[in-house]
Amino acid sequence: MNFLSELDAEICNELQQLNNFIEQAIKDDQFITEACLPLLNGGKRLRPLLFFTCAKSNNNCSLERLLPLATAIELIHTASLVHDDILDQSSVRRGISTANASYGAQIAVLIGDYLFAKAFQLVAENNYGDEVSLTLSRLVKNLCIGEITQDRSLFQVPTITEYYKKIRLKTAEFLSTCCRLGGIVAGLDRREIEALTIYGTDLGLAFQIVDDWLDFFGDVDITGKALGGDLKSGVVTLPVIRALDVSIQSAFLFEIVTSGFVSDLDVITAIDIIRETDAANYCKTRAFAHIDSARINLPDMQNTSTKISLEKIADFVVDRSW
Ligand code: IPE
Ligand code: IPE
Ligand code: MG
Ligand code: MG
Repeated sequence: MNFLSELDAEICNELQQLNNFIEQAIKDDQFITEACLPLLNGGKRLRPLLFFTCAKSNNNCSLERLLPLATAIELIHTASLVHDDILDQSSVRRGISTANASYGAQIAVLIGDYLFAKAFQLVAENNYGDEVSLTLSRLVKNLCIGEITQDRSLFQVPTITEYYKKIRLKTAEFLSTCCRLGGIVAGLDRREIEALTIYGTDLGLAFQIVDDWLDFFGDVDITGKALGGDLKSGVVTLPVIRALDVSIQSAFLFEIVTSGFVSDLDVITAIDIIRETDAANYCKTRAFAHIDSARINLPDMQNTSTKISLEKIADFVVDRSW
């Protein structure tokens, strides 16, 4: 059952069919299939969900037409997670062992590459046209720039502007692209497509801020990811940026996050320092502001239930615990 199953029964059916389609798509090689299937399980499917929801604004858009691109979107997302886990040296994702932990970084790089290639194969085979291909290529390119920018500035404290630039590239653009692609494939008018893109960007900014918040304040059993993972891998995110600004132990926290090596004990100490500040509220307030702005930018759609679903998704993104 997906987290948004209460949205409507139709979405449940679509996500079930998406899972079947994903399973069928990765059958080139027994080892790769066995390695990829568990990695592809257990995600929230937020990106395909955004794509479906926006595309359904046009009642004439069939599920058959949407499934290959929805699958490509989820494969690209999972590929980026496989590569992200190599960079972060993460061992748990979606509640199970990461590709790098199971097979080593070398094979994990290739599993990620396979998933990217498979995604673009699906797009090419289904004649979505140049605009879709270009939009997806731009997305992957910017995701890479975001991840590289992050990796080149580990154990450094970004300004708020630098932080936003990075989360825009690595996450917000992905969510906005899913909305945009839904609009393009469904043949919505340009004004609607642009409005959905803006909605998706604010949604994505809120999504990454909440993800960064969950890294400190989440429940490991619910998120399926380790706590304090960002600190350990040297990624300095919004809760830390805020705590550094307001904590009486700012100098000590700065020493921990910029030391180049963060031990398990350092993580506990840093989390305690951060918890004593208003960082959690500060992040949530910022996330809520982006959600408000996402909602305000939603156009009146041809199909009124689309707008209601997108509002529900926005509420979920800011209130989620996984
Ligand atoms: C994880 O995305 C990567 C981020 C952009 C924070 P999700 O939280 O959507 O991951 P899954 O798909 O549910 O595993
Ligand atoms: C998003 O950032 C990762 C990608 C864009 C691939 P994170 O590094 O915060 O994602 P998680 O927390 O590992 O899921
Ligand atoms: Mg990560
Ligand atoms: Mg994270």
